[in-house]
Amino acid sequence: MTLQEIAKALVAPRKGILAADESVGTMTKRLDAIKVVSTPENRSLWREIMVTTDGIEVAISGVILFDETLRNPLPNGKMIADILKGKNILSGIKVDKGAYKYNENEETFTLGQDGLTERLEDYKKLGAVFTKWRAVYKVGNNLPSAAAITGNSIGLAEYALLVQKAGLVPIVEPEVLVLKGNHDINKSRQVTEKVLKDVFYWLKQFGIKFDSMLLKPNMVLAGKESKSQATAEEIAQLTVEILRKTVPKEIPGIVFLSGGLTPDEATGYLKKMNEKYKGLPWQLSYSFGRALQQEALRAWSGKSNNIKAAQEVFFVRAKKVSSARNGK
Ligand code: 13P
Repeated sequence: MTLQEIAKALVAPRKGILAADESVGTMTKRLDAIKVVSTPENRSLWREIMVTTDGIEVAISGVILFDETLRNPLPNGKMIADILKGKNILSGIKVDKGAYKYNENEETFTLGQDGLTERLEDYKKLGAVFTKWRAVYKVGNNLPSAAAITGNSIGLAEYALLVQKAGLVPIVEPEVLVLKGNHDINKSRQVTEKVLKDVFYWLKQFGIKFDSMLLKPNMVLAGKESKSQATAEEIAQLTVEILRKTVPKEIPGIVFLSGGLTPDEATGYLKKMNEKYKGLPWQLSYSFGRALQQEALRAWSGKSNNIKAAQEVFFVRAKKVSSARNGK
């Protein structure tokens, strides 16, 4: 498959991406919450439960994995990329090495370019065809700073360049932490628009092929502590409005992160956008982590007796998100 074909397949009708690329630290937090010890076996069993769910390929085009999961056999003895291939699901890999706090405002830039070219060759051999790199931006008084915006944009552009050169599809993820704080939705709109504008400016400067990448942004939302919460209608409107202003039409798809929204909220806002706006130049789809996994993870709670039930819960959510992608 060419890079354009891979990018398009990831946002095929009714389909989107499952983000199961939590680092060991993040996965440990998720498992702590359900009182399961974070051993390599438990982390990999959870990924096995998700990818062996019957029928999941109707809603999932690709799964973003973490290094540990792509490299090692699952508890059932199989390699995850082989299981996914058998279901016609594409394997992806998170290639950044996390956000580094560099100033007193705890702004970050993303690490991971060291040895990236070599790791990409490894990941290709292991079956990965697409990748993800996440940059994080804090919202606040005079935040994000110019340095955080430009530094992260250039990081994303350098990453996308190396990945396309290696023959894989980059997912560019600039995540503005819009839910953290008491700002209103307008502030989120301003910041997200500014960030996306800068990201695409630098992607263009570095000669990134827009038809061979995907964008993974946040939705535009009021801070959790804001007194003026926005309606789904406003969220859909402001999100699509800034995407129209900033995202080139050659980009095949925009795959939203769920960013701490509840599964119903993330699904509902995605549905509203797809219901309200037809004929956009790009597909509006998903690359949810928590919104796809949270309910099923709780249903499992680390007990083998619960696996079947957890898979059912997972499948129900995946189908809901898949319908939302079509505005249903
Ligand atoms: P959430 O949907 O839980 O925000 O995760 C998506 C993701 O991959 C963040 O990098």
